[in-house]
Amino acid sequence: MSGQRSATDPLPHAASRGQPLPKGTVWLQDPALCKGTAFTEAERDRLGLRGLLPPRVFSIEEQALRVMSNFRRKPNDLERYVQLIALQDRNETLFYRVLVDHLEEMLPIVYTPTVGQACLEFGSLFRRPRGLYVSTADRGRVGDVLRNWPVRDVRVIVVTDGERILGLGDLGTYGMGIPIGKLTLYSVCAGIHPQHCLPVTLDTGTNNETLLRDPLYTGLCQPRVRGAAYDALLEEFITETQTVFPHAMVQFEDFANANAFPLLDRYRRRVCCFNDDIQGTAAVAVAGLFSALRLTGGQLANQRVLLFGAGEAGIGIAELLVNALEALGLSPVAARQHCWLVDSKGLVVQGRDHLNAHKLPFAHAMDGQPNLLSAIEAVRPTALIGASGVSRSFDQPVIEAMARLNPRPVVFALSNPTSKAECTAEEAYQWSDGRAVFASGSPFGAVQFGGQTLVPGQANNVYIFPGVGLGVLASEAREVTDSMFSIAARTLAAQVSESDLAKGRIYPSLRRIRDVSAIIASAVAEEAWRLDLARQPRPADLAAHIAGLMYQPVYPEYR
Ligand code: NAI
Repeated sequence: MSGQRSATDPLPHAASRGQPLPKGTVWLQDPALCKGTAFTEAERDRLGLRGLLPPRVFSIEEQALRVMSNFRRKPNDLERYVQLIALQDRNETLFYRVLVDHLEEMLPIVYTPTVGQACLEFGSLFRRPRGLYVSTADRGRVGDVLRNWPVRDVRVIVVTDGERILGLGDLGTYGMGIPIGKLTLYSVCAGIHPQHCLPVTLDTGTNNETLLRDPLYTGLCQPRVRGAAYDALLEEFITETQTVFPHAMVQFEDFANANAFPLLDRYRRRVCCFNDDIQGTAAVAVAGLFSALRLTGGQLANQRVLLFGAGEAGIGIAELLVNALEALGLSPVAARQHCWLVDSKGLVVQGRDHLNAHKLPFAHAMDGQPNLLSAIEAVRPTALIGASGVSRSFDQPVIEAMARLNPRPVVFALSNPTSKAECTAEEAYQWSDGRAVFASGSPFGAVQFGGQTLVPGQANNVYIFPGVGLGVLASEAREVTDSMFSIAARTLAAQVSESDLAKGRIYPSLRRIRDVSAIIASAVAEEAWRLDLARQPRPADLAAHIAGLMYQPVYPEYR
């Protein structure tokens, strides 16, 4: 089907202007239009589909039942991922319907950890292209490439260059699974219309030798470009997005540390953009700390937080914590005293050589400590947060030390996917005698300990970025500010109920995610109006306005 699409009306403009509807297989081949066996008798006549479908008409509930029974019969999670992607390619409405209704079961499939496995095997799983690829070979014509996308009213772009996919490293164009997965979550968790979403992979080469030798590799077989050539491609891409998709927010995703910070610094005031690994992770981790304090009975101003891993996630969390402490009246210098970093060379302290600019503010006056355990003994943290990508680095002595220093040690093992987690939920509970307040990046199931069922939290950015995106969309904010992430963190923490806490759960149930995202969106949009960054006037009933913007996966009637 040719022609530009509009997001709110899935039919191409020609059809929606009252011209006769096209007939035949086009209705089955376009995932945005397809209803499969749910086309009604009248639609089958009107659209020329009679005979092209088996005679029985199914409801979407019956179709969902079929999807779920196949899903649960699959031998492994990767097969489930393939099944869901195939459904997304076939019938978008049904895909979103089953995800909205079964998010807890499906989130680990469409996102971490299974998406990591899917990215590793992207070459062999590849069936049908999805998203937009912009490569270094496109320099000078990036605008033309963007204009090839069939929708002009794009509101959210998630872009990666594939260099730091989860904790798996450089996966080049195989990283495309990440922007696709994240945008799926925007639609599922915050109701941002799928047609408003654009996944982009920038192919700037790969330094992954295995991929360069892989005959199925889908990207340019060349080493990564660096320096001026890289910056020029990014500059052209960002500039052209402003022309072609002037209402789009850009989310930087899974860029390597060395590019992530400079890109955010360069563009955050110029365009509506943020980096989820830095700012989204920070908000979800700080929200987790707020909730954890309700369990431990502590005050934020009395915490010492040790961040293991001083990269995008670690620094982002430290900066947002400082922001939260400043809001309590602490000076920036005093606030920083509450945050400590450990990187691959040990504790970050004053006088250590070659500390980068982002670590320097957190380099305190203390003797150097070569490893995590000695750093814990020296700093005596109340909370330990892992964002290092180093699996099993929170070993028994580390957790035991935290448990010796604190009646209720706070331990977050954020590294993804599961294979990279600093420790498992079971280890954290076992080694702390069931006292740890635990959260992880990838999901762990409930743990039985001492006759109790302990439910670990999943510090999943999905609690934050969809709501922030919806708030930006509702207000048409010109910028995404740190204060919006602070507000999102506080709003998320306030959504954790006493009954969640009673089970040890420091995030709300995923079953409430659409409501939670809408509440976060309202708070973020209010901040945009407060800061005079909104391009839309504030509607009288903001909550109703936001609810009205949210996509519902129900079939349209084709008349
Ligand atoms: P990054 O590459 O920017 O940072 C990694 C940091 O870990 C670097 O500072 C590095 O020096 C440090 N590190 C590496 N080896 C170490 C060692 N042996 N000891 C101590 N520190 C070491 O990566 P980024 O973006 O900060 O992500 C790190 C991890 O956090 C990844 O596994 C990622 O999947 C995870 N993550 C989790 C999120 C969540 O759960 N919500 C969100 C974002 C990231």
